[in-house]
Amino acid sequence: MNHIQGSLLYEGKAKRVFACENPNRVLIEFKNDATAFNAKKRSEIEGKGRLNCKISSALFELLESNGIPTHFLELHSETLMFAEKINVIPLEVVIRNIATGSLCRETPINEGTILTPPLLEFYYKDDKLGDPILTERRLKLLDLISPSQKEEVENITKRSNTILKEYFDSLDLLLVDFKLEFGLNSLGKLVIADEISPDNCRFWDKTNSDPKGRILDKDRFRQDLGGVIDAYEEILKRIEKDLSHAS
Ligand code: TMP
Repeated sequence: MNHIQGSLLYEGKAKRVFACENPNRVLIEFKNDATAFNAKKRSEIEGKGRLNCKISSALFELLESNGIPTHFLELHSETLMFAEKINVIPLEVVIRNIATGSLCRETPINEGTILTPPLLEFYYKDDKLGDPILTERRLKLLDLISPSQKEEVENITKRSNTILKEYFDSLDLLLVDFKLEFGLNSLGKLVIADEISPDNCRFWDKTNSDPKGRILDKDRFRQDLGGVIDAYEEILKRIEKDLSHAS
């Protein structure tokens, strides 16, 4: 069992955030809890916290090494990471390379359509409101970020997508879409926050043509497909294999 010293600052659906001695740092614990549809569906998946923590750390390091600012500092242990303490901006920024999920439920766009350029969308982060999609004007009206911060969020999201898409392509995985969250650190700098894992990304296995079999992300839980942990393990396995070649 990990020994966590600081007080609990915040508990979300998939993570707990603890204070550290250094006021600009926090310790983030990745939980095994899984939720979908704004927490209407809940379960506990043994091993998910460890996998998401390790996958997120590797992906934050990849982005940082490409000059993308994130809140990640260092891995503490299997389910815990040190991160910068930030003020979270209540927005979910989704970028889509291939049409699926809510885009296909809510529009006539066919499942699997390649989106060129990728589609970037803002959602308001609030489970009670069902994380509603925002129009440009509603985003402006909410005044959660300045126009220049919005431009920076869009640039960081697009650059991250280019880096991650190319990286996963080299692992024989299609990066279908993903969601990022942002925050401001103690210096007021905009950084990617939260996590980057199969909980908030969609991955399709390029070596499997079966539309359900190729899914290697939380859609296995959302759609009751089974094999959730095996899918997450597969993502980590491919990342670790790549890291072992790189070192
Ligand atoms: P969507 O197609 O359901 O809108 O999801 C788009 C992407 O965002 C997908 O990679 C899953 C991720 N996502 C979250 O991380 N949290 C959420 O609450 C939702 C709805 C989607």
